Amino acid sequence: MNVKPLHIIVLAAGKGSRMRSEHPKVLHEIGGQPLLAHVLNTARSLDPTGIHVVIGHGKKQIQDRFDDDTSLNWVIQEQQLGTGHAVAQALPNIDGPANILMLTADVPLLSQTTLESMLKSMSASPLTLLTTLVDDATGLGRIQRDDSNAVIGIVEHKDASAEQRNNKEINSGIICADLDGLKIWLEQVGNSNAQGEYYLTDIVSIAAGEGCPIAAIHPKQSSEVMGINSRNQLAVAERQYQSNLAQNLMASGVTIIDPARLDIRGDVSIAADTVIDVNVVIEGPTTIGGNCSIGPNTYISQSNIQAGVTIHPNCVIDQSTISSGANIGPFARLRPGTALAENVRIGNFVETKNASIAAESKVNHLSYVGDANVGRDTNIGAGVITCNYDGANKHQTIIGDQVFVGSDCQLIAPVEIEDGATIGAGSTITSNIGANQLALSRAKQRTIDNWKRPSKNKKRD
Ligand code: UD1
Ligand code: CA
Repeated sequence: MNVKPLHIIVLAAGKGSRMRSEHPKVLHEIGGQPLLAHVLNTARSLDPTGIHVVIGHGKKQIQDRFDDDTSLNWVIQEQQLGTGHAVAQALPNIDGPANILMLTADVPLLSQTTLESMLKSMSASPLTLLTTLVDDATGLGRIQRDDSNAVIGIVEHKDASAEQRNNKEINSGIICADLDGLKIWLEQVGNSNAQGEYYLTDIVSIAAGEGCPIAAIHPKQSSEVMGINSRNQLAVAERQYQSNLAQNLMASGVTIIDPARLDIRGDVSIAADTVIDVNVVIEGPTTIGGNCSIGPNTYISQSNIQAGVTIHPNCVIDQSTISSGANIGPFARLRPGTALAENVRIGNFVETKNASIAAESKVNHLSYVGDANVGRDTNIGAGVITCNYDGANKHQTIIGDQVFVGSDCQLIAPVEIEDGATIGAGSTITSNIGANQLALSRAKQRTIDNWKRPSKNKKRD
């Protein structure tokens, strides 16, 4: 077993010109997180001694995006002279003995298992490549082997002959090398090639020439080594990433009606026996308990949903917590700071914000409940509005237990309605209501007998 400390170098200095973007390529996202974040997460899973990220193009933007991560060693490559040159910039910061795993920030779907098998191979081979067979190898480096099938080099697509281009075994760009060997090999790399660059891949023929045994490990799935150079490849990688997530969720007991119509971004956990209908987007951090039902066309972001919650179609749920047995929608919008207790019912066209609603209460139709505290077993009728904003400041509405608010009432905050109070439909409430009181503020009804409606004037020709 190889016990040398592991250092990981992540190459992220290139421009990514094929993205046609003002932003550095590695900040483009899949699953709601930058490509670089995916690679760093996988790197961390190997528990390395150090992670060194080589940046150049857009370096400030990249550092700003990751400035809360103090564990990274940033290495600046002022001029992008090639992948070999990029790795060489990081080496002076690394003390040996060590194994150096080189990852590229534009290959985000690599699995921990695949990298672990590369590290295992390092005890026998001081140079281990990750290679795979692909149908379309255009643009990629090709693995060269001798008659005994030993790896003897990598030739870049632009430098390859027509015959070499027929070879479908490609370099994933992921290479692991012993630090001492790597230093010696890199010093010998030149730049007389089609791109005038110092290729990292040239160390392979140099090491082979020294008689160094070179291993080629294959990923579990060849999609793991998919590189992202264009918006099209970004979209393909996104679908692959989503498909992987959906497979994992289904394997853990979640029913997904159509895995191709679910998008998960960031850190999301969903417990078994929850059923997710089509066109659902869930953004993390979000947790969803078991036995929930999530209706079609629903967006959930940064929320905590307990077990047994039903969400009907077309809801938007943002920064909210929902307790067991709650029943939401269709067409409900829960805005940040909504906290619903057990079995709360939120019906159609209801908007809530900074509102906590206690167990068993109902807001069934067309209401706005904002900056409010609602007690248990309270019923809020159709079209009720908490008027929380006076044009300058926000105010609280406090509603007790077992209150009945009739339809079409406006509650002008700040206002407090105590337990058991009843408010007649159509009332505008401007002052507090005590326990068990009835409040009515609408005008008394008048009725006029035999009322003649106005008739239209006759048209003259
Ligand atoms: C590279 C490999 C190729 C492999 C392919 C797989 C080389 C010479 N070629 O080609 O064999 O099949 O990846 O995806 O290594 N970078 C720097 N500094 C530089 C140049 C590049 O940091 O000076 C970074 C880029 O930001 C990128 C990575 O290195 O993250 C790879 O560079 P890129 O130009 O995309 O190489 P490919 O042409 O894809
Ligand atoms: Ca690339």
